Amino acid sequence: MVATGALGAVGAIAVAWPFINNLNPAADTLALSSVEVNVQPIQVGQAVTVKWRGKPLFIRHRTEEEIKAAEAVPLSELRDPQTDNSRVTDSAKKVRPEWLIMIGVCTHLGCVPLGNKPGDPKGPFGGWFCPCHGSAYDTSGRIRQGPAPKNLEVPSYLFTSDTLVRVG
Ligand code: FES
Repeated sequence: MVATGALGAVGAIAVAWPFINNLNPAADTLALSSVEVNVQPIQVGQAVTVKWRGKPLFIRHRTEEEIKAAEAVPLSELRDPQTDNSRVTDSAKKVRPEWLIMIGVCTHLGCVPLGNKPGDPKGPFGGWFCPCHGSAYDTSGRIRQGPAPKNLEVPSYLFTSDTLVRVG
């Protein structure tokens, strides 16, 4: 009886969330549904990690060099071929090369790759590096070396203003 009541309460919270979200667009941590993040404080070259649906969400404010490096890679060199452009396009088809938004879970065995915190090794391709078996990702989060089969996943997201992004 108690368990049933608890489940009911969780369901009610999930349903109520979209309304709460509308009233409080600055909220940046949420276990369910979407998360809205103010990216304004993230300086060029910095990255932050936000918890979203129980997973780390990486948001990197890329430098010009990082963007150029990502754009210069021929698709023929990629194990999981995706253009950089396609990975920095929001659901309204707006391209913002300076913002790379991905789920920070290695596609090999699910570790959280290094490269998002200051001082972390970024690996040989300047993006992220997963030390468990040496998967290396480039500045677009694409797999370049090691056992991981896929690029870091880019979730669906939408910039609702120049500084606010809603993920999910
Ligand atoms: S989980 Fe990333 S290399 Fe194994």
